[in-house]
Amino acid sequence: MASQIDHLLNESRRFPPSEEFAANAVASPQIYAQAAAGSAEFWADQARELLHWHTPFTRTLDWSNPPFAKWFDDGELNVAYNCLDRHVLAGNGDRIAIHWEGEPGDSRSISYAELTAEVKKAANLLTSLGVRTGDRVAIYLPMIPEAVIAMLAVARLGAVHSVVFGGFSAESLRARIDDANAKLVITADGGWRKGKVSPLKPAVDAALESPGHNVRNVLVVRRGENTVDWVEGRDLWWHEEIAAVDADHVAKAFPAENPLFILYTSGTTGKPKGILHTSGGYLTQVAFTHKNVFDLRPESDVYWCTADVGWITGHSYVAYGPLANGATQVLYEGTPDSPHPGRWWEIIEKYGVSIFYTAPTAIRSFMKLGRQIPQGFDLTSLRVLGSVGEPINPEAWIWYHDVIGGGSAPIVDTWWQTETGAIMISALPGVTSLKPGSAQVPIPGIRIDVVDDDGQHVGTGNGGLLVVSEPWPSMLRGIWGDPDRYRETYWQKFGDKYFAGDGARLDDDGDIWLLGRVDDVMNVSGHRLSTAEIESSLVSHPYVAEAAVVGASDETTGQAVVAFVIVKASQADVASAAEASDLLRAHVAQQIGAIARPRQIFIVAELPKTRSGKIMRRLLRDVAEGREVGDTTTLADTSVMQIITDRLQ
Ligand code: WT7
Repeated sequence: MASQIDHLLNESRRFPPSEEFAANAVASPQIYAQAAAGSAEFWADQARELLHWHTPFTRTLDWSNPPFAKWFDDGELNVAYNCLDRHVLAGNGDRIAIHWEGEPGDSRSISYAELTAEVKKAANLLTSLGVRTGDRVAIYLPMIPEAVIAMLAVARLGAVHSVVFGGFSAESLRARIDDANAKLVITADGGWRKGKVSPLKPAVDAALESPGHNVRNVLVVRRGENTVDWVEGRDLWWHEEIAAVDADHVAKAFPAENPLFILYTSGTTGKPKGILHTSGGYLTQVAFTHKNVFDLRPESDVYWCTADVGWITGHSYVAYGPLANGATQVLYEGTPDSPHPGRWWEIIEKYGVSIFYTAPTAIRSFMKLGRQIPQGFDLTSLRVLGSVGEPINPEAWIWYHDVIGGGSAPIVDTWWQTETGAIMISALPGVTSLKPGSAQVPIPGIRIDVVDDDGQHVGTGNGGLLVVSEPWPSMLRGIWGDPDRYRETYWQKFGDKYFAGDGARLDDDGDIWLLGRVDDVMNVSGHRLSTAEIESSLVSHPYVAEAAVVGASDETTGQAVVAFVIVKASQADVASAAEASDLLRAHVAQQIGAIARPRQIFIVAELPKTRSGKIMRRLLRDVAEGREVGDTTTLADTSVMQIITDRLQ
């Protein structure tokens, strides 16, 4: 890590915008000056310009009860109306909203008029199933149009969705259903992944098996056509129900602070946090950033964000941002290498994708396969590239720029989080001179700082902790059901500044370089995982006495999960170390989901702890990354690391 960071900070290449791009860019340099004149007023202007308000707001920001912000709170709008009806009413009903590409090669292009009609029917269906304003609906779907339709139908009713990534286990799904007290689950029989149907419905059945939840119905989209079990009276086929409802639905206006969704993300403890987002401020900032950061021209661009709707990127830059802006986008169901390793590039060629947004981990895995694969396709339609999820190393940046972007498409490296709701730090294409590896500058209207432990600005050339120093429109409004945890996690450290959990450095120009998490949160392939959550899954297995998990750097995935486990004495002879490790890897995948499965599990006799009993993860990371073990003097028993390394050699 240290050497990687040095390398990053020695990066000095610059990529100024071409004159042609700058002359036609959506964003202009003046936008920073406009925002600097007053960020709340700037956002009020954006909210009025970018959205339709059923009732215009007169109040912009209410920060009288920090850290609970209210934006535009006497205004009223309907989020789904803003993403659908108004585009049709403006005469753009024939514009394609979604070019959907199924993994086996089937496809479907859906216009704004068609998408609006589908969402109206779905809203009527949800109403008939008893979904009311404020109710929570869990969505557990593959990347099919119904995922977006379901989200928008929930939003249209002023209800709250909780999308659960299809890769999460039955147990994780149940925990999320319980936390939000969801009354309806929308799922599918299965979806296509890696050349075959991957069933989803069985996980929902398993999740709902034990009593104690309030789910009345499970609405099932038919996609995989795999056989499924059926609970009479509870389970309903989406296609049958939707055929029977009214096609008309008038969108009602809801207050700007009406909750829109809950999305669970990992924190430093074992229990995922339900991040709550509301309507008006969220939609304003996702629409603004989607337009300005990607230089969007909705009449001519074809945009593609490869994220799954189960993550925040899929909420803000697949569902809400692009649709609020009336963009045409690609939605792809499957994996990048199915049925061949050029699938993504083939899709770009097929639809003439002009704006492409993906994660560094994907770029690195394509780099490994070699440039001849993308070079077999026509990628000349691409004009803006985006990166998100983790720092992009300069090598991957240059490869992305040269091989995918033809040496000319600007790359926007966008820093943000589930909690921030929308992009916070990014270059603006056509405006900013790009630096490979740096997310660079706060977007207009956003105040970011890098501070020391006491909250003091570190100054250019120094490193510290990343904070957001003023409330912003798309900020989380809290953690579902746990206001104390919200205060403690993000606000306790600095009082008046939002603590993001990331380390960062300011270069001599004042540009921001992100240096990774400073807490016990790992970033695997751009997805957030908690060390504590995986440790508690490991110790729940009867074999395990103690477990410690670290994020070790990994060439492709950024970080990888590596676990150190002490097996109970009574179990030590039952399985060999290799067997125990396989078993435990499978156990974690089953309990949390495949993304949490440790890359490696070391069976050890001891764990390194300080005198106060805290596990020294730094030392375990040294072992996991194959480095010489660092300073061990604060260990309660300094011989422990010797014991661990001896055993592993
Ligand atoms: C964490 C948030 C934002 C959507 C995807 C992840 C890391 C995110 C960048 C970037 C460096 C980044 C941070 C952040 N991160 N984007 N461009 N450069 N780091 O959302 O799961 O909420 O994770 O991802 O560490 O805190 P998330």
